[in-house]
Amino acid sequence: MYANKFGRLMFGLYSRNTAAVCGVVQAQRAGGRSGFSWTAVSRQWTLWLRRSTSLESQHHTVPCHMSARSASHSTVDPDEVRRFQLLASKWWDERGEFAALHAMNDLRVPFIRDNLLNEHRLGHPGKPLAGLRILDVGCGGGLLTEPLGRLGADVLGIDPVGDSIGTAQVHTAFDPDLRQRVSYRACTLEDLSEDEEHGGGRYDAVVASEVVEHLADLETFASCCGHVLKPGGSLFITTLNKTNLSYALAIVAAEQLLRIVPSGTHDWEKFISPVDLERLLESNGFSVQSVQGMLYNPVSGAWSWTNSTAINYALHAVKAREDPHTEQAQESTADTHS
Ligand SMILES: C[S@@+](CC[C@H](N)C(=O)[O-])C[C@H]1O[C@@H](n2cnc3c(N)ncnc32)[C@H](O)[C@@H]1O
Repeated sequence: MYANKFGRLMFGLYSRNTAAVCGVVQAQRAGGRSGFSWTAVSRQWTLWLRRSTSLESQHHTVPCHMSARSASHSTVDPDEVRRFQLLASKWWDERGEFAALHAMNDLRVPFIRDNLLNEHRLGHPGKPLAGLRILDVGCGGGLLTEPLGRLGADVLGIDPVGDSIGTAQVHTAFDPDLRQRVSYRACTLEDLSEDEEHGGGRYDAVVASEVVEHLADLETFASCCGHVLKPGGSLFITTLNKTNLSYALAIVAAEQLLRIVPSGTHDWEKFISPVDLERLLESNGFSVQSVQGMLYNPVSGAWSWTNSTAINYALHAVKAREDPHTEQAQESTADTHS
């Protein structure tokens, strides 16, 4: 159980095969051995080091609302959707696959609440977020959507996995108070951002907790977050850092050495460092307000804040009051007229 829990919590359960891990497995097969191979791991480690030193973040802005999206500008990775589809009935099992996400509410709910209270003058005792509209992207079964609704916010949870949305709807239906403020929709962020009624400039906050490491296209995600938020709106992200430590623990130790989680569970390539995430968000008109490290204790099953962002972290960013695309367009119009 310890091993199981440790695997889930540190490394999430939820990513897909990585080229690195496949490489290790292939190397093991080529060597005719089924067990662990140091040679294969060290070869992969070297490859990874080479790759990581040559990694250049190439950020180009893809304004999701300006043109019809091509498939390459979709945030959806079909493998991820398939995997979560298989887990769609398990969201509310507090000791099951999503136990670590249940426990994470102890940190992420106050993080979102307190940062929103700093940004907005709200005065509703008992329902401190009343009057705010929040979009929970990748809401799954509503583990975070519900507590935000309980704090008084109007929350829309979206997820491309229809069965997860079904689970979330059924769970919320049991609470008459929540039913008035929390709703769900099976769709992507890019679909929503193109929707006149529910999309552009409508939300005071967007939350994407443990989601960005499952997306196919982060540029589209960042651009669409900017589009659906009101000027000055808040974006909250929790995710996994892309460090040697997360590679060593999540890929090498958990999958190859200890076999805590099945080989190929994680895609380290999709992890992102706070610096790269900050750069991406700033190029999409956000300013990052805070980044805090999070640490899971596998023995107690509890999360705590830490100074180190080496494995998990939470980020709060605010959308600029002026849209950078509008600004650019205005500047180029001014240039043509001068
Ligand atoms: C690790 S779960 C996190 C669920 C929820 N945010 C929570 O913390 O309880 C990741 C979620 O992201 C969703 N997801 C995967 N691809 C997505 C996409 N392109 N857009 C939005 N959500 C996506 C999955 O279906 C899944 O529900």
